[in-house]
Amino acid sequence: MKVTVVGAGAVGASCAEYIAMKNFASEVVILDIKEGFAEGKAMDLMQTASLNGFDTKIVGSTNDYSKTAGSDVCVITSGIPRKPGMTREELIGINAGIVKSVSASLIEQSPNTIIIVVSNPMDTMTYLVHKTTDLPKNKIIGMGGALDSARFKYRLAEALECPISDVDGMVIGGHSDKGMVPLTAKATRNGVSVSEFLTGERLEQVAADTKVGGATLTGLLGTSAWYAPGAAVSELVKAIALDSKKMFPCSTLLEGEYGLNDLCIGVPVLLGKNGIEKVVSIELTDAEKAKMQESAEGVKKTNGLLEL
Ligand code: 2OP
Repeated sequence: MKVTVVGAGAVGASCAEYIAMKNFASEVVILDIKEGFAEGKAMDLMQTASLNGFDTKIVGSTNDYSKTAGSDVCVITSGIPRKPGMTREELIGINAGIVKSVSASLIEQSPNTIIIVVSNPMDTMTYLVHKTTDLPKNKIIGMGGALDSARFKYRLAEALECPISDVDGMVIGGHSDKGMVPLTAKATRNGVSVSEFLTGERLEQVAADTKVGGATLTGLLGTSAWYAPGAAVSELVKAIALDSKKMFPCSTLLEGEYGLNDLCIGVPVLLGKNGIEKVVSIELTDAEKAKMQESAEGVKKTNGLLEL
């Protein structure tokens, strides 16, 4: 499998590193506009190959899209990240132009590629790719829910004082501080509802901390996080590479599912060789349905800022 990652910044380089370390891809191309930057990151990462035990070939490119030709999956991380106090939505002005241009250049070299959008505001950037390219909807995936769910599990394990491997939980909805919908009523610890171990008040705090997980890190780091976003992307790409039909919450174009239309928002999907193999319909409580509706209204409001 050949994978391209556009953007050699912290997020893009982490995507490339985790994809390489999981050793399911033959080649990863990192592309950036900054002279020599992607080539440097690729060389540094290749010099970890003997230490981290992977055979994936990592190549850097300074804005030469011909090197991305024939990519099975292309990950778009390019654009400006948040600064402390910023919302993801404030990035739309600059990032929309970048994502539109980058996706066109990628598809020109790889007409059958699957695109994974990371750039923020992610749900709106994913929608932008739908509106400005001819890729089928199963080949356009927004990465947000996989990251948010990882943060949800982190907060659940923290509250339960248990290993993270004991918990499971999913976050759907928009990838925004207000729009995320952590499914607390469905979260489990070894298959047992977490509500048997945590009070409603504590679970509400877990959900609240999850929703601002990105902002919390931006406040601490002075920029957006990169390790967990990179790891989340690598798991989506691995599921595609292995055709595993693994379920993740991903941003995808809805056409009536969950009662929603004409927007991209996080819902459970099965990922395989065709990208989004299926949108999975799960039963939501009335409260969860209301939160999803509110989240969708927020995403559509941001979509309205696009100049299509
Ligand atoms: C995050 O939540 C970058 O949106 C990404 O960290």
